Amino acid sequence: MQSSSSSKAGGNGDEGHLVCVTGAGSFIGSWVVKELLLRGYRVRGTARDPANRKNAHLLELDGAGERLTLCCADVMDADGLRAAFRGCRGVFHVASPVSNDPELVPEAVEGTRNVINAAADAGVRRVVFTSSYGAVHMDPSRSPDAVVDEACWSDYDYCKRTGNLYCCAKMMAEVAATEEAGRRGLELAVVVPATTIGPALQQTLNFSTDHVARYLTGAKPAYQNAVTAYVDVRDVARAHALVYQHPDARGRRYLCVAAVLHRANFVGLLRDLYPQYPVTARCEDDGKPMAREYRFSNQRLRDLGLEFTDMRTSLYETVICLQQRGHVPVIVPRHRACL
Ligand SMILES: NC(=O)c1ccc[n+]([C@@H]2O[C@H](COP(=O)([O-])OP(=O)(O)OC[C@H]3O[C@@H](n4cnc5c(N)ncnc54)[C@H](OP(=O)(O)O)[C@@H]3O)[C@@H](O)[C@H]2O)c1
Repeated sequence: MQSSSSSKAGGNGDEGHLVCVTGAGSFIGSWVVKELLLRGYRVRGTARDPANRKNAHLLELDGAGERLTLCCADVMDADGLRAAFRGCRGVFHVASPVSNDPELVPEAVEGTRNVINAAADAGVRRVVFTSSYGAVHMDPSRSPDAVVDEACWSDYDYCKRTGNLYCCAKMMAEVAATEEAGRRGLELAVVVPATTIGPALQQTLNFSTDHVARYLTGAKPAYQNAVTAYVDVRDVARAHALVYQHPDARGRRYLCVAAVLHRANFVGLLRDLYPQYPVTARCEDDGKPMAREYRFSNQRLRDLGLEFTDMRTSLYETVICLQQRGHVPVIVPRHRACL
């Protein structure tokens, strides 16, 4: 595992101050909490039900005994958010439904508006917002030769037409965060993670690691003729800490992408690492032209000192974790998987 990236901290002063992470028990939120504890912050994590067993792993993190508290907050409850942010210098807004359910879109969008306003009311200095690559890459009119970077936005109408309401919600949420932060004079920095894999700290499966589990169990009889961007969850967490700490991150987006792979190459890597699992080798679109892998830039985060975990390591460790948590059966290989 990579060591933590060193930061050129400055923008938010000493590392002992209090920060709040919304959605602390989520796949990404848990690693953000861990990273912040590792860097010496005092952390308040929010969850809708902090006492629920699914959040128990947070209290086991290094430093949690002395520097982590959990509190109850729903992003639709402004008073609860204000109470959660009281005394905090920074807020990491990670919580969001990860869903295409139209009824949950307001939780992503209005919830984000509520978070920014509650943060401003509580005197928070900087908010780091967790956006999504879904807000960036879905534009059918973009040239296949274009380099996808922080200037790119998905085409909202296209996302809506194709039923990608999650992408619509994350676009609207990012726009809402930017508008509200500008209006309230709050510093905002945005991390834009791609499909996030890697070992989970929590016991439960989230959407993006379930995607890997479904290939391993053979639940997916064919892979899509599609290209997806990936990143390791530990890099996403480091990105959050780096943009929080860097003075120049204010008002900027940071694309957090380690690799862009056609699904054929993704499942190929999985089969290569774990040949004992029934991972499909069949494409849904057999015979049709393959979607092209495109170029992207993660230079902005690398300039802050982030070194991205390679996909082979990330996928290897994702599967080990899925086995340890009992999400996929342990099948003993004839030959050991190696990196
Ligand atoms: N995983 C990915 O591939 C990926 C990629 C790009 C961006 N992201 C973004 O990263 C963030 C975390 O994703 P994840 O995959 O780690 O999520 P996850 O494990 O599915 O967890 C979702 C989190 O959102 C919280 N949440 C949902 N609705 C809420 C509400 N109304 N009020 C308060 N909290 C609420 C949940 O809190 P409870 O525990 O209280 O239910 C939970 O902590 C999201 O903003 C997502 O859009 C994820």
